[in-house]
Amino acid sequence: MASSIRITPSILNADLTHLDSEIARIAEQSDLIHLDVMDNIFVPNFTFDFDSASAIIKACPIGVDAHLMVADVDQIAPAYAEVGCESVTIHAEATKDISATLRAIRQAGARAGLALKPGTSIEDAAGFIDQVDMFLIMTVEPGFGGQKFIHEMMEKVRKTRAIIGGRDIWLQVDGGISPETICEAAQAGANVFVAGSAVFRADDPASMISSLRTLAQSVAHD
Ligand code: DX5
Ligand code: ZN
Repeated sequence: MASSIRITPSILNADLTHLDSEIARIAEQSDLIHLDVMDNIFVPNFTFDFDSASAIIKACPIGVDAHLMVADVDQIAPAYAEVGCESVTIHAEATKDISATLRAIRQAGARAGLALKPGTSIEDAAGFIDQVDMFLIMTVEPGFGGQKFIHEMMEKVRKTRAIIGGRDIWLQVDGGISPETICEAAQAGANVFVAGSAVFRADDPASMISSLRTLAQSVAHD
């Protein structure tokens, strides 16, 4: 069976003035490009508005995994699916009607992801399990790249893996993923890994992605 490990590099720490070439040098090794959308309301940082995010999504040579860290996400999330994202992730803490928004993302043709900040328990989100294609367990507080991996989140990853059981739901971790932390997260049951600074601060980002994949596969559950 093919490994279910996926590496989804975040371009948050890439050179945003040369985004096309930054994406081009990692596209072949990446499963999806992780696009962090921040509004300076839900998180204390701003990255892209919808128009500039749309331009990136349309130009991206591989699928985009949009991570929406924005307030009042209910209206805008399906628009990210319509513009061509392969996966759209909303935060449980930012969404007024989680069921309706997950449904709208799927109806617009994307995979629907549900993200949890470090302080939100998986038990609060488990009721949505039949409406999600991916859970995202944040391993840092959302807002910035380059933060320290929160090891205590591994208990939540293990619980989420147990709750997922045999369902075909991806389990993503985001924040502080590096060669030092990816095995711990994979052992706990994660199979989709966001890596921002580990990739873009590496001398060779493409080979860093390959190394991360090899490490995760060496301890993966399947
Ligand atoms: C943080 C973002 C992450 C971030 C990861 O809020 O959601 O995707 O870019 O960056 P690193 O890998 O540097 O922690
Ligand atoms: Zn992210």
